[in-house]
Amino acid sequence: MCLFTALAQLPRTARAPKVGKLAPVTNTSSRQTGRSLDRRLCVAPMMDYTDRHCRYLLRLLSPRSLLYTEMVTAQALSHGDVERLLGFDPSEHPVALQLGGSDPALLAQAAILGEQHGYDEINLNVGCPSDRVQSGRFGACLMAEPALVARCMRAMREVVRIPVTVKCRIGIDDCDDYEFFERFVLTVRDAGVDTFIVHARKAHLQGLSPRENREVPPLRYEVPALLKERHPELTVILNGGLKTAGQAREWLPRFDGVMLGRQAYQEPYLLAQLDAELLGHGAAPPSRESVVLRYADYVDRMLVHGHRLPLLLRHIHGLHAGRPNARSWRRFLTEQGQRAGASGDVLRQSLGMFREAA
Ligand SMILES: Cc1cc2nc3c(=O)[nH]c(=O)nc-3n(C[C@H](O)[C@H](O)[C@H](O)COP(=O)(O)O)c2cc1C
Repeated sequence: MCLFTALAQLPRTARAPKVGKLAPVTNTSSRQTGRSLDRRLCVAPMMDYTDRHCRYLLRLLSPRSLLYTEMVTAQALSHGDVERLLGFDPSEHPVALQLGGSDPALLAQAAILGEQHGYDEINLNVGCPSDRVQSGRFGACLMAEPALVARCMRAMREVVRIPVTVKCRIGIDDCDDYEFFERFVLTVRDAGVDTFIVHARKAHLQGLSPRENREVPPLRYEVPALLKERHPELTVILNGGLKTAGQAREWLPRFDGVMLGRQAYQEPYLLAQLDAELLGHGAAPPSRESVVLRYADYVDRMLVHGHRLPLLLRHIHGLHAGRPNARSWRRFLTEQGQRAGASGDVLRQSLGMFREAA
């Protein structure tokens, strides 16, 4: 038995969540389950990447996928600028808010804010292994504390009606057998959670950077696949290392959905193709040109609100990934985007590079 399993089985004396003090916003009897959203194609939460501008762009490419925010900590929401942390464009729907934290009462409060802002789902991060997150006692280290995760999930479920889901790994450190993973999932399931997004590699809590933790531990898709096989009533989404339409097509039948992270960001047109193929019954994806033009209009609107052009343009850099001219297009956006007075016209003008190349 690994150390974490032994500790998890000790009786707990932790205080009960104080959620009774909060005003639940909805009647939980009409709660949506995790199945009420189409989860066949999801885009992963990625800190510093999947901000609202990125999600707006991805939505232009993919009308049907489920998008996730970057992780927002419950702590930040309790002190910070809620509008800045939670604001999003209505076109982003369906969009899930990912929370970080391990205090049931704070998470419940954050979940209420998320629901009030119109998010379609609340997701708890139980997969991030960074030191900063561990020092706050949340992220992947919570896989060692399934009872605490269950309390967090129950506290959130009690106060919102939208689905409350978990994103986790398949294990941590030497706790990497199927039984450990299944025990974690079933403990959380008993708090009423039916949807698990599984990054199918374990996390090393010491010795690897977050980046290495996304590359070094081997992918083991068979672990979440076995979970789905044994517990078909659960909604299980596969995440980790999916890079091609072929892989998504191959694995989707064994799961309820696939979640792409890095590849969706680096090659966003893949998302358009997957959306059209998997969810759109083979409808044609939007053309890159139409996406550029619509994003240019969005950029102009955001500039009026004081957003900075380079931060808006960076998300679209991968649009032509893999095509001739892709690199010069990126360079054009970078250089022109830094000029004083530059606007969405940079994008409009960039279209000429492909028309001429055609
Ligand atoms: C830059 C970056 C930031 C990330 N931030 C988060 C995060 O905020 N919350 C989270 O649950 N996972 C985060 N992840 C992990 C991804 O959601 C995903 O689980 C991981 O990248 C594996 O999927 P992929 O191989 O499709 O990228 C991040 C990944 C990257 C590359």
